[in-house]
Amino acid sequence: MINISNWLLRLAVLYLIAGIGLGLFMASSKDHSMMPVHAHLNLLGWVTLTLFGLFYRVVPAAAATLLARLHFWIYVPANFLQMLLLGLLYRGVAAVEPALGAVSMLVGVAIVLFAIVVWRHTPAAA
Ligand code: HEM
Ligand code: HEM
Repeated sequence: MINISNWLLRLAVLYLIAGIGLGLFMASSKDHSMMPVHAHLNLLGWVTLTLFGLFYRVVPAAAATLLARLHFWIYVPANFLQMLLLGLLYRGVAAVEPALGAVSMLVGVAIVLFAIVVWRHTPAAA
């Protein structure tokens, strides 16, 4: 069984490299047309994955649940495809829009699963 927290943190820094790489390209070329891709690589990739990873690090019991695994295995591939399709969309490939919508919904589903995990593992009385 993989260590969810470790993998989230390891993937997060790859998104940081991609997000900042694109940011540097945007800044140096003065072509900001990929800004939404840059913003979401950094925010849905780097920031969100890091926060997921740190939560599972601080609350390991949460990481051991089936719901956490579902969250991981839906979010990670869906977010990867989402970034790929978003990149294509902003390069002018409008046909990706329905698929982008579908994977974005999956990202939303995974985030709801994460919200349930957090609520279950943060009892008010603790
Ligand atoms: C070397 C690092 C970075 C560079 C060179 C860079 C560059 C840029 C550039 C050129 C823009 C477009 C600005 C515009 O057209 O108005 C932008 C927007 C943005 N960047 Fe970065 N960025 C960097 C790192 C980051 C990081 C680490 C994050 C988040 C954790 C981030 C989040 C954003 C967001 C959210 C926007 C959109 C802002 C808006 O809606 O006006 N950036 N960045
Ligand atoms: C399924 C998840 C998400 C979807 C479908 C989504 C969708 C969008 C859309 C359609 C825009 C407008 C883009 C434009 O035309 O300028 C936008 C902008 C933005 N979103 Fe998201 N978003 C998501 C998650 C997030 C999250 C989790 C964050 C922060 C942690 C975030 C931060 C931002 C910011 C800062 C902007 C303004 C920068 C920009 O225009 O690119 N988004 N988002």
